[in-house]
Amino acid sequence: MEFSKKTFKLNTGARIPAVGFGTWQAAPGEAGRAMQTAIRAGYRHVDCAPLYWNEKEIGLALTEVLKETAIPRSELFITTKLWSSQHSQVEPALRKSLQDLHLDYVDLYLMHWPVSLPPNDASAPNFGKEDRTAEMEKLLDTGLVKAIGVANCSTINLEKLLMTARIVPAVNQTELHPLLPQDKLSQYCKAKGIHQTAFGPLGGKGSTLHTHPMVLDIAEKNKGTSGQVLLSWGSTWAIFRLDETEIAKLDRLAKTEGRRFNRPNWRTTIFHDDDKSVG
Ligand SMILES: NC(=O)c1ccc[n+]([C@@H]2O[C@H](COP(=O)([O-])OP(=O)(O)OC[C@H]3O[C@@H](n4cnc5c(N)ncnc54)[C@H](OP(=O)(O)O)[C@@H]3O)[C@@H](O)[C@H]2O)c1
Repeated sequence: MEFSKKTFKLNTGARIPAVGFGTWQAAPGEAGRAMQTAIRAGYRHVDCAPLYWNEKEIGLALTEVLKETAIPRSELFITTKLWSSQHSQVEPALRKSLQDLHLDYVDLYLMHWPVSLPPNDASAPNFGKEDRTAEMEKLLDTGLVKAIGVANCSTINLEKLLMTARIVPAVNQTELHPLLPQDKLSQYCKAKGIHQTAFGPLGGKGSTLHTHPMVLDIAEKNKGTSGQVLLSWGSTWAIFRLDETEIAKLDRLAKTEGRRFNRPNWRTTIFHDDDKSVG
């Protein structure tokens, strides 16, 4: 089956395409063009965020490419996120992203980090006291989002959230690749019906995972690229089906070369599930 047709079912009943196109860190002018190329190549899932500082560019490029290809909006799955300094302005932040992206709704709205930062606007209300989970849940009644979720949450963050949540998040988007398999978190999410999406599936910025000799060897055997191997490890079948020996070899990497690449210092513990094997 073509990669773009492969999907996972969310706890809302909607389907999320297994492979998404990330929009972080592309240079201005490149992000929109790259996303258009991805859509023409078959991608139907685009991951955005106001923190990537390119939602306006993505919005313009998206409008153009949908017109050119006549792909209906309903065929796309668009995610964006609530930035940490906007936790006291959840709906206005979403409306700004929708305006920039030229969309009436997003398929998924994620809380970007389980950390609140002071708002840029000093007059913003109730910083630190807001119940951001309840505010996120209210969005489901507005029609502006089809699903809500979180990102960068550990089992402990999720446990805390689920104590007060009315709605189980549809997704937890976290760093996830063979050097950071996050087995404990993955099992927890599965048990709670939360879909775990991998960001940085090739390891993220600074990663050398896609040049690892073992990954290159598996790529050669499958007549593919190292990027395709890493995406196929994550979902086991996104691009091609790795055999059990190949998966076991990739799984062993974390034991000796475990590493988290995206590790901002929030001055509070975020990554509760990392043990000593994670460098
Ligand atoms: N929720 C969050 O907090 C969060 C955090 C990070 C990322 N994300 C999302 O996840 C997306 C992907 O993350 P990412 O870009 O950091 O990591 P990635 O997809 O793992 O890419 C990591 C690096 O791999 C290289 N690369 C990319 N495609 C390649 C390919 N086909 N073959 C060989 N090398 C390749 C690139 O290096 P070069 O630049 O050297 O080519 C890139 O910097 C982001 O765009 C964003 O949408 C979300």
